[in-house]
Amino acid sequence: MSSPERIAVYGLSRAGCSVAGALSGAGHDVVAVWNRSDVGVPGPFADGACVLDSIHPGDADPTVILIAVSDDAIGEVAGQLARDAGTWLAGRETLVVHLSGCLSREVLSPVSECGAATGSLHPLRSFDQPIQDGSALRDVWCAVEDVAGDRLSALVKSCGGHPFPVNSGSKRDYHLAAAMSSNFLTALLGVAGERMARAGVDGELIPRIISDLVRGTLDNVVERGAAEALTGPIARGDIDVIEQHLATLEDDPEAQEAYRVLAGLTLSLAERAHPERRDLHERLRRRLCSS
Ligand SMILES: NC(=O)c1ccc[n+]([C@@H]2O[C@H](COP(=O)([O-])OP(=O)(O)OC[C@H]3O[C@@H](n4cnc5c(N)ncnc54)[C@H](OP(=O)(O)O)[C@@H]3O)[C@@H](O)[C@H]2O)c1
Repeated sequence: MSSPERIAVYGLSRAGCSVAGALSGAGHDVVAVWNRSDVGVPGPFADGACVLDSIHPGDADPTVILIAVSDDAIGEVAGQLARDAGTWLAGRETLVVHLSGCLSREVLSPVSECGAATGSLHPLRSFDQPIQDGSALRDVWCAVEDVAGDRLSALVKSCGGHPFPVNSGSKRDYHLAAAMSSNFLTALLGVAGERMARAGVDGELIPRIISDLVRGTLDNVVERGAAEALTGPIARGDIDVIEQHLATLEDDPEAQEAYRVLAGLTLSLAERAHPERRDLHERLRRRLCSS
């Protein structure tokens, strides 16, 4: 491991405690914590970390400040840090980092104007609870905006994670991709599970049946790419089947609308994979728009 960093955590959030726990487990020192409200110091840091009663890091002398508050509050906390500790930050090599997937490091400009290096680190993992055992970043892909050499990537690697760079200017595209793959898939699987239950499939089997299907699909997409991996009635051009699906969803207009939009996107993918079936695809698109 590169030399251990001294970490201050600003925001004892689920993600903040999890990432700090991973850094601590990897041999870095969590030297200070700060939180807007008094929530106590989480167990893993109780011995080594001082609780800051103001945002100034003071004698804790961190080399990395992890701003782990809600996305909407990151700019406010960065501004407060610049106002109260701007002189302290000047001339130091402190790295100030936030954990948001959607925001770029630009939101930390108040502290970069004071001379601090800034970056962002977004673990592609959902922390519905703080993970206290140090495993939070193990084998986890982490998007990093690493401007201080590869210091941030080195931190992630020291915790067993896999850092990959994202462009600051298009970070929203990255976050959109992550949200679509995870959140929208979850929503779709919820609707799919309800439909399978209506078809009389044993409720205990449904999660296993669906997850095996999804895993197989994922394997195909990883192996051949999305367009080539596409199967099903849209890829085949089975227009009657698609009309039956839409009719089945008459009782759920929201899901029916989602089906129509997703069928359109699926059709665009099929068109790219099989341009020779252009006539069939055009007929299908006309029927989708008219039904
Ligand atoms: N949770 C995840 O799955 C996950 C995954 C990857 C990245 N992230 C990122 O990690 C960061 C934290 O998310 P989270 O879900 O872990 O948050 P969380 O558990 O909901 O906690 C929110 C934190 O923000 C603080 N906060 C809210 N408004 C504030 C304000 N105006 N000033 C100062 N502090 C304020 C809260 O302080 P109080 O205790 O005083 O309310 C609390 O410490 C976000 O940037 C998020 O995008 C989260």
